[in-house]
Amino acid sequence: MTAVVAARTDPANPLEGLEVREVPRPEPREHWTTVDVRAASLNHHDLWSLRGVGLPPDRLPMVLGCDAAGVTPDGQEVVVHGVVGGTGHGVGPQERPSILSETYPGTLAEQVAVPTWNLVPKPAELSFAEAACLPTAWLTAYRMLFTSAGLGPGDRVLVQGAGGGVASAATALAAAAGLEVVVTSRDPAKRARALELGAAHALEPGSRVPARVDAVIETVGAATWGHSVRSVRPGGTIVVAGATTGDPSPMEAQRIFFTQLTVQGVTMGSKEDLESLLRFCARTGLRPTIDSTLPLAQAPEAFARLAAGEHFGKIVLTV
Ligand SMILES: NC(=O)c1ccc[n+]([C@@H]2O[C@H](COP(=O)([O-])OP(=O)(O)OC[C@H]3O[C@@H](n4cnc5c(N)ncnc54)[C@H](OP(=O)(O)O)[C@@H]3O)[C@@H](O)[C@H]2O)c1
Repeated sequence: MTAVVAARTDPANPLEGLEVREVPRPEPREHWTTVDVRAASLNHHDLWSLRGVGLPPDRLPMVLGCDAAGVTPDGQEVVVHGVVGGTGHGVGPQERPSILSETYPGTLAEQVAVPTWNLVPKPAELSFAEAACLPTAWLTAYRMLFTSAGLGPGDRVLVQGAGGGVASAATALAAAAGLEVVVTSRDPAKRARALELGAAHALEPGSRVPARVDAVIETVGAATWGHSVRSVRPGGTIVVAGATTGDPSPMEAQRIFFTQLTVQGVTMGSKEDLESLLRFCARTGLRPTIDSTLPLAQAPEAFARLAAGEHFGKIVLTV
């Protein structure tokens, strides 16, 4: 079958090791299901993998991709929860959690095999492309906002790096849930798009926020950390799920303890979070912003767009 693989990793030139090639179909495995992928979406995680972060040389070549929607052999339309392990389902209780494409082949392929427990019914209201955007970036954004920060209607949230997959998801979800959303982005066009998604204010990175926020959605890292720490109210929360621009330095410890902030880490979300997110989208009509949709074979073009940061929202590959 055709798949998008990390054939090699290179910290400086991640796209150099990207290949679209033929790989063996997944072998049948007890308590696992092989899904015919209809759509899968790209995540920054795929670029980290191509840089060798979380993907050591002994696991190469590795099929990339963390999230997908597709069809099971008995015809069910499903969304794939991309975290394997940690629950015991399909792999035994001792196995540490990993995200698809770290230990097990990922979703950017004609087929992906996952523990059957990891499959969630796809709501009929969502297309395959829309559903394929949800299990990584949108799930992480959902957990950051509602599970970790515990935000509710009327609360204020700052979303850094508005153009990103997680950030644009957080903006749309927070606005749909009645939060006052402030975003930052380097790009005026992306700031305008964030306002269209429901943000109340769209600022240049580092600008003073209109009012201190209850929580910050932080995935950018070093480039925005100081602003995040300055923008949250005393006792508020900075939820961290990524550091695209590197580890923050300084970490501003004095301001963090003096204003009694909570810094909360998040990785992905639970299967229950994914089910709630799917219901949220099905009931409200909220849909992920899809930047572009390309066939699987055009993965190099799609990855170049992701790496250049030209996208707004999710880049989808269809099978
Ligand atoms: N923990 C988890 O489970 C989890 C899940 C998903 C993602 N992540 C991580 O979260 C991060 C974001 O992921 P993603 O898929 O949303 O990535 P993405 O779509 O590539 O977005 C990254 C965003 O960061 C902003 N950015 C990049 N360089 C910047 C700079 N120098 N200054 C200010 N802003 C900058 C950009 O926003 P603007 O262009 O708008 O300025 C860009 O759109 C990644 O590091 C990823 O690994 C973690």
